[in-house]
Amino acid sequence: MTAENARAGSAVPDVAAVTAALQIARRAPSLHNSQPWRLIFDGKRLHLHSDPDRSLPMADPDGRQQVISCGAMLHHTRTAFAANGWHTDVVRLPDPARPRYLAALAFRPWPDPPERIRNQARIIGRRYSDRLPMDAPDGWDALLPGVTEVARACEITLDDLPDSVRERLAAASDQAEAMRRFDQPYQSELRWWTGHFDPAEGIPPTALATAAEAGRVPVRREFPTAPGSTRRTMAEDHARLLALSSSDDGPAHWLRTGEALSAVLLECTGAGLSTCPLTHITELPAARRVIAALLPGHLRPQVVVRVGMAPEPDPVPPTPRLPIEDILTITTD
Ligand SMILES: Cc1cc2nc3c(=O)[nH]c(=O)nc-3n(C[C@H](O)[C@H](O)[C@H](O)COP(=O)(O)O)c2cc1C
Repeated sequence: MTAENARAGSAVPDVAAVTAALQIARRAPSLHNSQPWRLIFDGKRLHLHSDPDRSLPMADPDGRQQVISCGAMLHHTRTAFAANGWHTDVVRLPDPARPRYLAALAFRPWPDPPERIRNQARIIGRRYSDRLPMDAPDGWDALLPGVTEVARACEITLDDLPDSVRERLAAASDQAEAMRRFDQPYQSELRWWTGHFDPAEGIPPTALATAAEAGRVPVRREFPTAPGSTRRTMAEDHARLLALSSSDDGPAHWLRTGEALSAVLLECTGAGLSTCPLTHITELPAARRVIAALLPGHLRPQVVVRVGMAPEPDPVPPTPRLPIEDILTITTD
């Protein structure tokens, strides 16, 4: 349907094409699966806004991660349109007077996108946040340059943190979580997003680790633990830890971080690897300073990504998503 629209020589996608692309793109990752994005299609352009009703004031008081999540949605959206035959030209933060207006996308037909892009859109459906212990990623040295490059293309620096700093990072992670353990507003917010069983949002128990599993992952956000028997019996986590950092802070950098995060996650998933974004260690200034001190230059660490291998496939049900009609408004007549 959608590719037909592009092949038919139309200059802009029709509503069916927009809906089809967003069906794919809405699998984008977001903080606590809050899906804080709103899209408006005016018949010519698609406008991406952040949704003030989907903020997490305790984990994300300045809205940094909300914009990062929307950046991931922007990259997923561009990937899905490209795979369906539409090149997108993006203006980021088009109206400084409206900071929630994050991007405007204009379209050009791209009837024959490369197979690599079509494949990326298929990978969107396979990616998920894996919170279990992982084996070290196979062939990592060969993959790292490509993964670094997709982040760099979004003006974001990727550092593959050496094994020698794992203990310091684990200590910073522990400390960050210890500081939050008795922070009731933070804990209530976390429990709301992980325990209210809404079929369209939040993190379901099936996506969480049991206490025994979580205990073997030293760098992790502490979620309520899931019941169930222990999966993956390896003694410890051997995931690589990647830091995604920007040259400065602010919405433009956060949006690009989200785009880079999406690109990195898809690149790794395409290579058969498991991934999990982590931000609890960039939420508190003290922990964020620890990571910053491990990086060259004066970078602002935004997200850490665990990348590894699942020893055997252990399929988990996909996390839920809001229906298209809740995230897309059509303003064409
Ligand atoms: C900005 C951002 C921050 C995140 N922080 C964490 C985190 O600290 N710990 C974690 O386990 N997952 C984290 N995630 C992953 C989300 O929880 C996950 O994307 C969401 O629940 C949807 O599930 P899925 O990724 O499996 O599709 C984060 C994702 C984003 C985009």
